[in-house]
Amino acid sequence: MAIQKLKSGVFSVGAKHWDRRLFDELIPLPEGTTYNAYLIRGSEKTALIDTVDPEKKNDLLENLESLKVKNIDYVIANHAEQDHSGAIPEILEKYPKAIVVTNEKCKKMLIDLLQIPEDKFLIVKDQETLSLGDKTLQFILTPWVHWPETMVTYLREDRILFPCDFFGAHFASSELFVKNEVKVYESAKRYYAEIMMPFRKKIIGNLEKLEDIEIDMIAPSHGQVYDKPELILDAYKDWTSDNVKNEVVIPYVSMHGSTQKIVEYLIDSLTEKNIVVKPFNLTVTDIGELAIALVDAATIVIGSPIVLTGPHPSAVYAAYLANALRPKARFATIIGSYGWGGKMVDQIVGMLGNLKVELLSPVLIKGYPKDADYQSLDKLADEILLKHESLKLLGD
Ligand code: FEO
Repeated sequence: MAIQKLKSGVFSVGAKHWDRRLFDELIPLPEGTTYNAYLIRGSEKTALIDTVDPEKKNDLLENLESLKVKNIDYVIANHAEQDHSGAIPEILEKYPKAIVVTNEKCKKMLIDLLQIPEDKFLIVKDQETLSLGDKTLQFILTPWVHWPETMVTYLREDRILFPCDFFGAHFASSELFVKNEVKVYESAKRYYAEIMMPFRKKIIGNLEKLEDIEIDMIAPSHGQVYDKPELILDAYKDWTSDNVKNEVVIPYVSMHGSTQKIVEYLIDSLTEKNIVVKPFNLTVTDIGELAIALVDAATIVIGSPIVLTGPHPSAVYAAYLANALRPKARFATIIGSYGWGGKMVDQIVGMLGNLKVELLSPVLIKGYPKDADYQSLDKLADEILLKHESLKLLGD
């Protein structure tokens, strides 16, 4: 627990979860996470922006107590997911005059998820404002950062944006403001890849919407506060743009070394052509690292042996994940080894329906690769080079 001050009358009162290692029972959290909540004291009213995960509700309550908060008028719910909304019931219990301020969609979700009584809500529309006296909150609806009901709150006088998940990072630190930009950039990219990338097109629209306001600080509900917001705004513009990089991502699995050899040969062949290669052995891969690599890559090559007439289940997982995350890759193909046959290519291709990729020639090799097979892999590397050149990724 700790209270930290962003500006006069604006405090960070949320919780750190230093040792949480998995989110949604899916996403690795190598650096823990935080559930940031912010208290804003206006001359007339007090607002709490978001709450915390139920597991950390006592941290929030104790922080409010040590700030001697006697009354909360408004609890702003930017997002209904429980890591931010989960302590609203406890806040309403402790501060019975508090009203939950949110949009219509979020209200319905909060009633469904947390059984908050209908009469405890104040509904706001896009761009609506709420006065706290000498401070004014403006609400901007930004659907799909992360769920359909998400919105952000802008504190006009202090030019602070409270975007909840948007621009967040699963990164626990005792420092309030971003200091190590390289580190935070990587954490934020991991977060974008895992949480936001499926909604890339929607995010582009939401970024445009934020161009209308002047932002001095971005105070998300995960990670640190950006007092130089261009770091994360520029990063989001880059990640969400249609531009891809001269990179090939190879998630792969091998059972007896044949697919391993095929992957290693392709890595060398691509490297000789100055293409950046990012291989991920799926038996030891942190899926967050794979997701990060998918943010920029022009090409995805899935490597798998044929097992029981289909792809190895680890390759199925990688294909499913890539399809769900909807990276902006332009090309994809499949490589691997087989013993007697199967339908692996059709099955993997059938799983990639969300991706707007051109399928390149797959290379399936019987057993361990031989000279003719290496030529096929060189041909695939040439094809990838030509495709990347066609996107002008290689410079002059
Ligand atoms: Fe951090 Fe979508 O919740």
